[in-house]
Amino acid sequence: MAPRKLAAGNWKMNGDLAALAEVDRLLDAHPEPGCEVLLCPPALLIHPMVGKSRGGVLAVGGQDCHAKASGAHTGDISAVQLRDAGAEYVIVGHSERRADHAEDDAAVSAKAVAAHQAGIVSIICVGETEAQRDSGQTLAVIGAQIAASVPDCATAENTVIAYEPVWAIGTGRTPTNDQIAEVHALIRNDLVARFGDGAGFRILYGGSVKPSNAVEIFAIQNVDGALVGGASLKADDFGAIVAALSAA
Ligand code: PGA
Repeated sequence: MAPRKLAAGNWKMNGDLAALAEVDRLLDAHPEPGCEVLLCPPALLIHPMVGKSRGGVLAVGGQDCHAKASGAHTGDISAVQLRDAGAEYVIVGHSERRADHAEDDAAVSAKAVAAHQAGIVSIICVGETEAQRDSGQTLAVIGAQIAASVPDCATAENTVIAYEPVWAIGTGRTPTNDQIAEVHALIRNDLVARFGDGAGFRILYGGSVKPSNAVEIFAIQNVDGALVGGASLKADDFGAIVAALSAA
């Protein structure tokens, strides 16, 4: 069975209680989407957003979790707590976390394990910098990140991969279709080689996905959806991306 395509939105450090009105607008316009729809708001908005999910039409997720279930870690949130608030997913290893909080592949893998133990699906992010792409290291960098960030307990059910070139995030620039296809094929092959059932993993593209390029990106082989930042904040834009994925 083909995996269900996933339109995932990452609100990052944007949005407030008033912004939850966008969820109503999104679900009014797309009451029965033809793909899975996920929003990952700031942690404070997870619980109220779950209250607007209309019985699970919308899935809600966190943007990060700690590797431990509880303890003396001021300011952190555990996957268990995310689950308790109603989250079904958590993004781990986003390039902004890797850069701002010095998270390495081992830390990302530990967070993914914590998510799986809590019963949450991890969305594990990988991506090359512009300097790495310019120097021809993209495939080596992505291969190494997949090898070290994806834990042995990963399955097609508990793990989603997001390929997000760092230089494409928030810049309006995207790789060519061939470049996206090349990296997604590498990730697919690595997952099949390691897990056997790797064909079932969903692999998202992320980085400046918007209504105007979504149709084209969703037609690329091995692209099973998108992780969307800026364009997920407005119901009209994200709704157009949901519609494009539903029709792909
Ligand atoms: P963007 O962000 O869509 O604003 O480029 C993507 C992401 O960081 O997940």
